[in-house]
Amino acid sequence: MKTILGIETSCDETTAAIAVKQDRQIKIIANVTASSAPMQAKYGGVIPEQAAREQLKAIIPVLTEVLHDAKLVINEIDAIAVAQGPGLIGSLLIGVETAKVLSLAWNKPLIPINHLLGHFYANWINEPEHPSPAPTFPIIGLLVSGGHSDIVLFKDHNQYEYLGGTRDDAAGECFDKSARLLGLTAVQGGPMVAKYALEGNSKAYTLPRPLSGSDDFDYSFAGLKTSILNTVESLSRKSTSSISKRDKLYTVHDPQVLRDLCASLQEAIVDTLIKKVIKAAQTKAIDQIMLAGGVAANARLREKLQEKFHGQILAPLPKYCTDNAAMIAAAGFFSQPLLNTLDLQANPNLSLSLRAS
Ligand code: KG4
Ligand code: ZN
Repeated sequence: MKTILGIETSCDETTAAIAVKQDRQIKIIANVTASSAPMQAKYGGVIPEQAAREQLKAIIPVLTEVLHDAKLVINEIDAIAVAQGPGLIGSLLIGVETAKVLSLAWNKPLIPINHLLGHFYANWINEPEHPSPAPTFPIIGLLVSGGHSDIVLFKDHNQYEYLGGTRDDAAGECFDKSARLLGLTAVQGGPMVAKYALEGNSKAYTLPRPLSGSDDFDYSFAGLKTSILNTVESLSRKSTSSISKRDKLYTVHDPQVLRDLCASLQEAIVDTLIKKVIKAAQTKAIDQIMLAGGVAANARLREKLQEKFHGQILAPLPKYCTDNAAMIAAAGFFSQPLLNTLDLQANPNLSLSLRAS
């Protein structure tokens, strides 16, 4: 197979991409995303039915645009890869049912992709402007996104051992909920926290590194979220000029306090993440770690992991960390097509582990 069309609609975005494999390198020749982010910001988060309605409107224009951008005709596409789950059921259905129809109408093989595994395949994408080595096996993978914080040992393509993951909130959720609490943004809080953290003092506030000493590869971020809430509350009681509260929402008036809170939070999340993933690599005697998922775009995470781990760190370009169809198309090159297209069902509960996440 040489050319794969990828489709990804697991949350609020509608995205399609075309990947081409040349000399064992995967290149993305077109990548189109329609997002309902402005609508979410207005309503304070993703409303599943509304997201699916927007995706229904967007899917055909997005597909038309991606084919146009790639300057390809349908005959030149060898297969269709689609994110089967996990995600919001209404959203997944848009991508999965569209992919099934296209597979039948165009007579192309259909490849179902677990969205979580798909995130890791962003590491196989090679951009001529940012050449990077493709991962080799065995390798430790850390998936850090809005809904997942998982550590996996990959022995080969589609052959992995789940080592551990979050017992409650994901790292991305901790960034998002804290950003909301600090009055920064209702959605996608990670980039905002990272931006303010740039000029903040990460030692200004003492926050916990949950489960850091536990004898496993698990995470827990719910307590950290509560700690930042307690810190903000106590600050607002002490100094109403720097933080005020109205209707359970905080506004941080003092920009340096905001920067310091963001830097302290980011450092606590980063420290917690890297401690366990390095422990996993050392325990399994593996000298490569690959990052994946939206939080993998975080510059401090990449920098500190590089500093503390004496092996190789691989991470996708930031644009391929957050949800995108390029990673789904890339994963398609290493997965099996279905024998019968009509067998495919969207599965909102797919995971990497047998344990519910
Ligand atoms: O992988 P993703 O796009 O969606 C899921 O599958 O969940 O990840 C979204 C998450 C959000 O929590 C967002 O705040 C976080 O990734 N994120 C970041 C950064 N960019 C996105 N977190 C920290 N630093 C960033 N630069
Ligand atoms: Zn994702």
